[in-house]
Amino acid sequence: MKRTKIIELLNPEMIGRDVTVMGWVRTRRGNKHVQFVALNDGSTIRNIQIVLDMAKFTDEALKPVTTGSSVCVTGKLVESMGKGQTCEVQADSIEVLGSADPESYPLQKKGHSLEFLREIAHLRPRTNTFSAVLRVRSALAFAIHKFFNERGFVYLHTPLITASDCEGAGAMFQVTTLDLNNLPKTEDGKVDFSADFFGKPTALTVSGQLEGELGATALGAIYTFGPTFRAENSNTPRHLSEFWMIEPEVSFFDNNDNMELAEDFVKYCINYALEHCEDDINFLAQMYDPELVDRLKFVTHNEFVRLTYTEGVKILEQSGRKFEFPVYWGADLQSEHERYLVEKHFKKPVIMTDYPKEIKAFYMKLNEDGRTVRGMDVLFPKIGEIIGGSEREADYDKLLARIEEMHIPMKDMWWYLDTRRFGTVPHAGFGLGFERLVLFVTGMTNIRDVIPFPRTPNNAEF
Ligand code: 4AD
Ligand code: MG
Repeated sequence: MKRTKIIELLNPEMIGRDVTVMGWVRTRRGNKHVQFVALNDGSTIRNIQIVLDMAKFTDEALKPVTTGSSVCVTGKLVESMGKGQTCEVQADSIEVLGSADPESYPLQKKGHSLEFLREIAHLRPRTNTFSAVLRVRSALAFAIHKFFNERGFVYLHTPLITASDCEGAGAMFQVTTLDLNNLPKTEDGKVDFSADFFGKPTALTVSGQLEGELGATALGAIYTFGPTFRAENSNTPRHLSEFWMIEPEVSFFDNNDNMELAEDFVKYCINYALEHCEDDINFLAQMYDPELVDRLKFVTHNEFVRLTYTEGVKILEQSGRKFEFPVYWGADLQSEHERYLVEKHFKKPVIMTDYPKEIKAFYMKLNEDGRTVRGMDVLFPKIGEIIGGSEREADYDKLLARIEEMHIPMKDMWWYLDTRRFGTVPHAGFGLGFERLVLFVTGMTNIRDVIPFPRTPNNAEF
């Protein structure tokens, strides 16, 4: 079936042509002489207006042309006299491909709440808001590959099923084919994982970093971009149980190089969206967040502040603020603290570095003080932490000591330690939570609204 996408119809050069357009009816209105259908096909936030001269059509034929139905229209593309559009299709024919019973189609009127739309996530891409968000999301994914490709990074596919716990937090989803109602047991009464599919306990990955390091210490610079899974019971507007993460890992990089890459990277992505998603971003700004475009440009135009955890804690302690979670040196900073620094104190994105080793993962490089590690988190307005990363501990003995100190099962880590045994190099990397970036760029406030089918505690619908 040959059709022209609506985004192409909006090109002024198309005026005067005979076209076939297909899409879903958003609204139909009019009188007995003329009817107007607003049609959308997902290629753009903009609808095309279909003009139906009622001398050519019967009421009966138009009856199934209701909100949500799908139609194929042929006609001539002409300049529009009406307000709000430059062109419209004067229809010669309209064929209903699929009707949508007005009694049961849930997207009748405009202005459904985002909460309600989450309950009908299978249909919400048909709304302006979600089609805009999903187009921006797609553009950002492309920008990410473009950025790393332009810089000669190798895209490395790391496994989703793994037997190691990168973040050491234990918040992993088990993967098993054992019959949960009839578990095989060893002699001492434990589950016999040797009978399981992989012959040992496995889980969905929380991060591709460890395998990313294997790639970086061979290929020089790699990035991963894939789904990651966290079984933590976090019911916040910034946490998902399944989210996508981008993890570059670069050999011969120190933490300063790492911060520079992170800053360039997010700025590149935001600029790409500003350039390529103007209609969608403007729509979202108008609907949800009038300051959105200013905020995006502010981030791309300003240098991120760099400060150590110790300096950050000092500022928070001296702020005179009452935080829900107390601040003291050693405390894991909460989103309220991060946002205070970014939104109130500096009014700029912040890269915080050199955290106490106790609150960070085992792989971060220990500083000379023996207390802090060369971690770096990028903190954003409205989001808090958008990136987490570090320079890695490249020294075999120091890494081993940390692994033992933190009681990380040694035998699972032999292959990781081999990178430090054979030609170890300084290296660094970070992880960007893709949905947090999409959240920032779209101005949405809940992470469940920037992924097509969110997975959160007690929710795996669709
Ligand atoms: O800070 P995190 O846990 O770091 C890592 O996983 C490292 N292995 C990354 C690396 O150095 N290669 O996660 C990285 C980012 C966070 O900054 C945040 O943006 C996002 O992933 N993130 C989540 N996004 C949505 N839902 C969750 N539950 C998230 N947990 C982390
Ligand atoms: Mg983190």
